Amino acid sequence: MKVTQLDCLCLILLHLLHTSGSERFEVLGPTDSIVAVAGDDIILPCYLKPNISAEDMTVDWLNLDFLDERVFRYQNHRIIRDDQIPYYRGRTSLFEEELWRGNTSLKLTRVQGTDEGHYKCLIQSKSWYDDFTVQVLVKAVGSKPVVSIEGHREGGMGLLCESEGWHPDPELVWLDSKGVHLSARTLETHRDFKGFYRVKQHVIVQETDTNHFTCRVQQKRINEKMETEIHLPSELFDPTPWRMAFIVLCCLGAIIGIGLSLAIYCICYKKGNGEII
Ligand SMILES: *[C@@H]1O[C@H](CO)[C@@H](O)[C@H](O)[C@H]1NC(C)=O
Ligand SMILES: *[C@@H]1O[C@H](CO)[C@@H](O)[C@H](O)[C@H]1NC(C)=O
Repeated sequence: MKVTQLDCLCLILLHLLHTSGSERFEVLGPTDSIVAVAGDDIILPCYLKPNISAEDMTVDWLNLDFLDERVFRYQNHRIIRDDQIPYYRGRTSLFEEELWRGNTSLKLTRVQGTDEGHYKCLIQSKSWYDDFTVQVLVKAVGSKPVVSIEGHREGGMGLLCESEGWHPDPELVWLDSKGVHLSARTLETHRDFKGFYRVKQHVIVQETDTNHFTCRVQQKRINEKMETEIHLPSELFDPTPWRMAFIVLCCLGAIIGIGLSLAIYCICYKKGNGEII
């Protein structure tokens, strides 16, 4: 029997695998990203293959989208809370009763906007380590938009639309009754301390035949929208002070007109009389 170089290499590799094999493991988890609804509790799955105990290992959960990445650490049979990203304080845990069978899944409670990111599950024994990364997407549908009337602005009526509690950040559009987009001011977007988005936008509308206007806030990634319709009575577009001013001007004009005609008539009449005399 001929032994080739390749066979030799394989044998050596197999031997190495066997001798160091007692401590070797793979870290596995879901290949699809996890979509989490804001406010829910979620599990980020992660486990060892083969299913050896992780009780004597160091288990790190990191959020790679943060500079200071630590979400959770288990080491020397204890939970280490130093250097934990403050957003995760009091919201993370492992299933400690599951560690002996290689289950190092992380439980994250009350999901919030800042939780979106890439999470690495890193497991280290004394002689080996491996990791797995899973992506978490956070979905939050915000509040029904609140529309308020701001009064007369630049020859139209000023309206303001506001909605909060979104993730990811939504778009906002103003529509007239025919569904035509109205051009509005720039969208103002703010992020609160939990990572949810609040948006608001001003618009100036002109009188139409129906005076129905809609503010729609939508997020295409999560395929959600919320909208509010407002009806403006047409008297609003017809401001009383202006009408009064117009009437007063008309009256003044009429009085001045009559006065002038009278004066002209009198002068002519006197002149006429004078010539006759
Ligand atoms: C570990 O895996 C083996 C085979 O995959 C299975 O038979 C066994 O029940 C598992 N052990 C635990 C503790 O889950
Ligand atoms: C790990 O434990 C959690 C909680 O009991 C369970 O939901 C999950 O399915 C387990 N994962 C594996 C891979 O066994």
